[in-house]
This record gives sequence, structure tokens and C-alpha cells, in this order.
Amino acid sequence: MNVDKIYMTSSENMTEIRDKSINLVVTSPPYNIDIQYGNKTYKGKIVESKGVKYNDKMSETDYREMLKRVFEECKRVIKDDGSIWINIKNRLIDGAIVTPFWIQDFFEDMYLKNVIIWNFDWGGSTNKRFAPRYEYIFWFVKDKNKYTFNLDDVKIPALNYRPDRYKSQLKNPTDVWRISMVSGNFDERTGHPAQYPEQLIERIILTGTNPGDIVLDPFMGSGTTAVVAKKLGRHYLGYEVVRDYCNMANERLQRLEEQG
Ligand SMILES: C[S@@+](CC[C@H](N)C(=O)[O-])C[C@H]1O[C@@H](n2cnc3c(N)ncnc32)[C@H](O)[C@@H]1O
Repeated sequence: MNVDKIYMTSSENMTEIRDKSINLVVTSPPYNIDIQYGNKTYKGKIVESKGVKYNDKMSETDYREMLKRVFEECKRVIKDDGSIWINIKNRLIDGAIVTPFWIQDFFEDMYLKNVIIWNFDWGGSTNKRFAPRYEYIFWFVKDKNKYTFNLDDVKIPALNYRPDRYKSQLKNPTDVWRISMVSGNFDERTGHPAQYPEQLIERIILTGTNPGDIVLDPFMGSGTTAVVAKKLGRHYLGYEVVRDYCNMANERLQRLEEQG
């Protein structure tokens, strides 16, 4: 099986990937909130139209069925000790918050190990309600006892460390992660409208895989998962339906290779 490849086709059928061959899936699915994937937008308006290449405004039923097909494929391809990490958020639909807990219905045959709150300090502003400043990461494992969890590789400094009380100056990062969104002045910023930060994915890949393992992202976007996997000595596989984003991801990977 090939590795270190992004397929420009839908991940609803991952015919290129063998059963039980992947160590970890990490992804952020499309939100179905009419994001103009493939167009350049500013303040909600299209400023440069390259033609919408992906429809982010399906019926809610079609949307969930599409995700179900993709996640069935993810379950098929992960190893018995593999895991699936999904970054998803609340959506404001018709004036009301829709939480994403329905995603759990797709994983009744797996074990939910953590619901992580990813908290960040900037984003869209509003004076009609409190400004939303968190997203979720759902972490599912196939085997409730046998899975990779390299806690020592992701421990953080214990601010209240007292040598008389604690064995270590490092501690468990807990299930609330404060990691900045990718802002405009970050080196890693691309033109993708829904890019997640490398630092977020770094913690997940370090925790859930070992060097040489294979990480899959079925919604690859600008290639963040692939870039972090390579930086950490892992392999990647991915799917992305928009050609411009595949190109963006491959250019990021090329730059990384050139930097050595
Ligand atoms: C939320 S974005 C992922 C962004 C990515 N995490 C990053 O850091 O750039 C979701 C992506 O999924 C892609 N997509 C939507 N449906 C897809 C499908 N069926 N198969 C593969 N990719 C799809 C969209 O074009 C979009 O780029």
C-alpha cells in the first residue's frame, strides 16, 4: 500500500486503503454551514470566485449520511489498537445552537475516551450572545484497553509544582486545551477557510502514534495533518475533493521537504 499520498477524491470510498492498516485518524469534517470552499472570502463575501468546488450546504440528512459513510470507512481501515480523533464544533443554525453530539451515534461500536475542549482566545465577534471560543475533539478507540497513549510525550509544565508534593515538574495536559487558532500572521497560515493549527494536531499525533505509524485524514484541506505527521516522523494518507486544496497541501509538504 502506498503511503504519504493525498487522493483527490471523496473519502466516502477509500478503496486505496487496506483494512486495518492505519494507526490513527485525525480530522475536522466540513461543517455544512455554507463555507465557500474553493472561493476566497472576506467578511462573509466572495472576493475571488474560482467556482465553488465543494457544496458545504447539503440537507442535514445528506450531510450526516455522507459523514457516516466516511467514518464507516475510517473504522474499516484502522488497526485493532487504532483510534479516531474528530475536531467538530457547535453550529448556529436558524438562530439556535446545534451541538455535535450526534456524531457519537456513528461510533457505538467504539469507546469514547475523551471529549476534549479546545479553547482559543480569538474568533468571530458578536454582541448578541457570548462569543464562541471553543471546539470539541472526540477521541474514540476500538479496543478499550489496548490503544496508544504516550502521555509522557505531551506532558506540560506544572505551574504549581512543589518539590515536596509532586514527583515531577510536568503534568497531564487535561481535557481542556488552550491552543491558539491560526491567525493571519502565523507562518503556517494558508488560504484555506477552516485550517486547524499544527500545535493541536501535534499533541494528538504524539499521543496516539509512534514514529513510523500511519496517520489518515479523510478531510485533508490545506494539509495540516500531513505536515505535522511528516515533522514527527510519521506517514500520512489523506483525501480532499477540492483540487486547489490538494495543491496547497502538496506545496506545504514540498516546502517542508526543502527545509530538510
Ligand atoms: C474543515 S476542512 C479541513 C481543514 C483542514 N483540517 C486544514 O487544516 O486545512 C474540511 C475539508 O474537507 C473537504 N471535503 C469535503 N467533503 C469531502 C469528501 N467527501 N472527501 C474528501 N474531502 C472532502 C473540503 O473541501 C474541506 O477542505
